[in-house]
Amino acid sequence: MDPVKLMKQEVGRAAAAQVQSGTILGLGTGSTTAFAIQFIGERLQSGDLKDIKGVPTSFQASVLAKQHGIPLTTLDEVDTIHLAIDGADEVDPQFNLIKGGGAAHTREKIVDGLAEKFIVVVDSSKLVDKLGTTFALPVEVLPLAVAPVTRALTALGGTVDLRMGVKKDGPVITDQGNMVLDVKFAAIDDPAGLEATINNIPGVLENGLFIGLATEILVGEVKDGKATVRSL
Ligand code: 5RP
Repeated sequence: MDPVKLMKQEVGRAAAAQVQSGTILGLGTGSTTAFAIQFIGERLQSGDLKDIKGVPTSFQASVLAKQHGIPLTTLDEVDTIHLAIDGADEVDPQFNLIKGGGAAHTREKIVDGLAEKFIVVVDSSKLVDKLGTTFALPVEVLPLAVAPVTRALTALGGTVDLRMGVKKDGPVITDQGNMVLDVKFAAIDDPAGLEATINNIPGVLENGLFIGLATEILVGEVKDGKATVRSL
């Protein structure tokens, strides 16, 4: 297996091992969380885990949960989320994140933000000293506001690209029916300030800065061909 896939698999397994019976789980989106969902499903099928309900953060998470036999619920039906497990595109030393590589950050922020405990599952390539250094910041925008929001983000110093579909002509459409602008900043000095400033632009639904939400980071690494997981 290629080393990145191996790291993702092992970190997903480590997160799934932390799930306890009787909990409401936030089910994140992306290729790393997909492994966690798979292993949670395996623990449920073997009887090692009981009485789990998942709140999916995307269509993808919902499909995977059903495929692996994890019962689903909604935010209308639960008072709390005990544990959320989700990936990230960048993680800084203060546990602040950039998310939205899968265009799911709006629902992810709602679900992950409600969780009592939020475990982030990443491979070591996602660790950065400063957010924005390797990854463009995803911003979900109402389609009618793409032009003015693009101008406002450019005025903030960002280089803005409308995210385009793969195997689909035209832009990516989110699970909410909106579009995504990927905004490259040189580096983000004040993540909390930028999160609020961007969300204050009319037409913006949510951006991918997750500030002060993560409680634990599980990092997958490969050393001498062997995958290890460390907790930050
Ligand atoms: C989706 C996300 C993902 O969690 C993030 O892009 C990481 O994905 P992967 O585990 O595939 O690298 O934020 O919106």
